[in-house]
Amino acid sequence: MTVNDYKKRFLNQLPAFYDETERLNLFYMAMEFVLNYSKADVVLNGNESVLVENQQEIDEVFNRLQDNEPIQYITQQANFFGYDFKVSPATLIPRPETEELVDWVLNEMKKQPQKNWRVLDIGTGTGCIPITIKKEFPLAEVFAMDISTEALNIAKQNAENLNASVTFIEQNILSTKQLDSYDIIISNPPYVRNLEKAEISENVLQHEPHLALFVDDNDPLIFYRKITQLAQKSLTENGLLFFEINQYLGNEMHEMVSEYFKTIELKKDFIQNDRMMKCSVIR
Ligand SMILES: C[S@@+](CC[C@H](N)C(=O)[O-])C[C@H]1O[C@@H](n2cnc3c(N)ncnc32)[C@H](O)[C@@H]1O
Repeated sequence: MTVNDYKKRFLNQLPAFYDETERLNLFYMAMEFVLNYSKADVVLNGNESVLVENQQEIDEVFNRLQDNEPIQYITQQANFFGYDFKVSPATLIPRPETEELVDWVLNEMKKQPQKNWRVLDIGTGTGCIPITIKKEFPLAEVFAMDISTEALNIAKQNAENLNASVTFIEQNILSTKQLDSYDIIISNPPYVRNLEKAEISENVLQHEPHLALFVDDNDPLIFYRKITQLAQKSLTENGLLFFEINQYLGNEMHEMVSEYFKTIELKKDFIQNDRMMKCSVIR
């Protein structure tokens, strides 16, 4: 098999749930992952025969894609804010909406660039939020919490690989009595209701950790309420609380949070869904 033969195979034989652009992208990603080839290398070496051991690896990628496994779990890598993060089945694949949330946080931090910000991320997964903040704001003191030992192991590897000093805390936020003092608290907690499962794509349902995604239909704001109560007591003067939220629960979130915070801003994501919230402490 040559590189071009694989291109034909990806384009013609991947299942119909991938559109043509996705098939081509997946082919390039597979070539980069197995052969370390850029797009230019693929074009230049299109007629080259692929070594048997590499053929086996490409076949495995192809088979896992046929099973609808996200490419990020196959390559064990996802890009977030320009940084490469390791992912595993214990971690959510970082999403572009979360990049927008981080961008919002960073813009607030840039208003006081010399401040020694103390920042906490709750439900950190790969560590994409705190590690990006530390990379962009080296002066900040950054902390990150998760209940999952496996996720924290990945987050710690990411912090090491990206040379970012972050303090990781293994803790269940729902049984946390109080938090230390922070200037900024961020969270993208589990927020998908079981009743929304029908809207979730099959590859997410089958492969991403349900611990990271789902909440009980009867109490979908359980994480937000607990974090809001803790944050109200632990944020410093002018402290900020940022959430990524369920697009359908913007109004409910606003109502719940307004019991604790006076200044609340709701923001839409790039596809115009209510997706982020900023709450400010005014004492
Ligand atoms: C939606 S994921 C967000 C992951 C990451 N922050 C991101 O944005 O890609 C939610 C995270 O919360 C963690 N989590 C779930 N229940 C938790 C709990 N009771 N206490 C702390 N973390 C929890 C999950 O392990 C998961 O990593």
